[in-house]
Amino acid sequence: MKSISRRDFLSKSSLLAGSAYPAIMALGLIKPAPAYAFDLEGNANGKKVIILGAGLAGMTAAYELNKLGYQCTVLEARERAGGRCWSIRNGSTHTEADKPLVTAKFDDGQYFNAGPSRIPHNHELTLHYCKELGVPIQVYNNVNESAYYFAEGNGPLSNKKVRNREVHNDVRGYMAELLAKSMDHASLDSPLTKEDGQKIIEYLMAEGGLDADKLYKASARRGYIESPGAGNKPGRIADPHKLADILHSGLMDPDFYNVAEYTYELQMTMFQAVGGMDRIAKALEKKISPMLKMGAEVTAINNVTDGVKIVYKDHLGNHEISADLCICTLPLPVLSNVSTNFSSDVNRAIDYIGYNQTGKIGLQFKRRFWEEDEHIYGGITHTNNQLTQIFYPSYDYLDKKGILIGYYNFNEKAQQVGELSYADREKLALQKGRLIHPQYDHEFESSFSVSWHKTKYNMGGWAVYNADTRKNAYPVLLKPDGNVYFAGEHLTYLNAWMAGAFESARSVVASVHSRVTEARVAYPAKSTQG
Ligand code: ALA
Repeated sequence: MKSISRRDFLSKSSLLAGSAYPAIMALGLIKPAPAYAFDLEGNANGKKVIILGAGLAGMTAAYELNKLGYQCTVLEARERAGGRCWSIRNGSTHTEADKPLVTAKFDDGQYFNAGPSRIPHNHELTLHYCKELGVPIQVYNNVNESAYYFAEGNGPLSNKKVRNREVHNDVRGYMAELLAKSMDHASLDSPLTKEDGQKIIEYLMAEGGLDADKLYKASARRGYIESPGAGNKPGRIADPHKLADILHSGLMDPDFYNVAEYTYELQMTMFQAVGGMDRIAKALEKKISPMLKMGAEVTAINNVTDGVKIVYKDHLGNHEISADLCICTLPLPVLSNVSTNFSSDVNRAIDYIGYNQTGKIGLQFKRRFWEEDEHIYGGITHTNNQLTQIFYPSYDYLDKKGILIGYYNFNEKAQQVGELSYADREKLALQKGRLIHPQYDHEFESSFSVSWHKTKYNMGGWAVYNADTRKNAYPVLLKPDGNVYFAGEHLTYLNAWMAGAFESARSVVASVHSRVTEARVAYPAKSTQG
């Protein structure tokens, strides 16, 4: 059969009225518009916008505004774009208040995500930008029944590695048994018919794995102490933990039990960018690089008649630049220390909205002992000590080396650990971690830790609202102060998620564009979420 070139095919098919577009699509030369493309109309004809901060919100705003004909300048204090969307690799550097500059010493190809590490499947906008920017993603294994619960110094299960599946199935079984028994004795004034009650008992027996007498007995659900195999190896199942032991070791406390699967955002399927979450930031940076000024620390933001004046400093000194409008994405604890002529309401909101403390440490090991020795491929071990969590990497399974997140903690625990020197954080992560994984002693190579609340240009993990700040401070910053708009995850209900940055950027772009074109620009244009 004679082959036909793409060019021939196109010119022939375009002769058929109306057929060229589907034909081009069939060849994969252009892609259909993505479901969540931001398709605002009207042109800004070169209106000038200064964007403060090259995190995901700032870069997305610049990217979208540029499509609409705005002239954008993005000021970024660091010599790196991406903000919290940061993956640590060999040579990454970091400074925290009161600490010297540190440089990561990892093997080439090894990395961990110091900021966002997981994307919920319901954050459509984050996934949309991965698609639009050509960033490949892969599944992030957030839930792993093989990882552990570890209660240090608490109760009968103290300092024991208890597999998630043991606790989950024992608790499920005991709860089902209790309920099934009480259903047996349900009073006659129950709103359920006898048949309904019977159905619920049947459900509980299946849910809890109860026997014919409605008693919880251990089953293979909670794992084996001797794996089944060929020949004379049926496998051996241990007795369940006693309910009281689980309770008294705190394994039914919300910190332990009320985890991943219960939270909307943390339900599987979750995703991550292949090769590090900063691939998303890097892809955006590529799109906006001509607009980006690095090493430019903003020191003053002032509304002036018909525009804004921004002062920033770089290695050459102070500079003043002007524009029609400004979009400020600086984290609020940072913005709080910038000189501005904002209204007192805006200043109050900036100061009142809280941020959390949070930190992570990456630990590089010579060998993936958690996979080789303990069959843990991704997922999370939960502890009651300062570590709070150990995250196992959901990439490069069966590789030789790997980096664990040795702790990922919040608030008081993150505060305490953040006070330590880098060396003492490493010591703590190893000392507590080896209680769970004694292999730490022989396999550890190097560490790198980040405390976001101690990090210059962040000064916090993410915005945390209470009822008062959500009601009184949040709405104040959703509106511009004169010619200055505010954006970032902190100005959404998606705090701590990249989705917040993307949603907020789009929302502010729509407001700016509405003002400039004097047209009504609705956001969200479609029903988007996340
Ligand atoms: N989004 C943050 C996380 O995944 C809270 O841990």
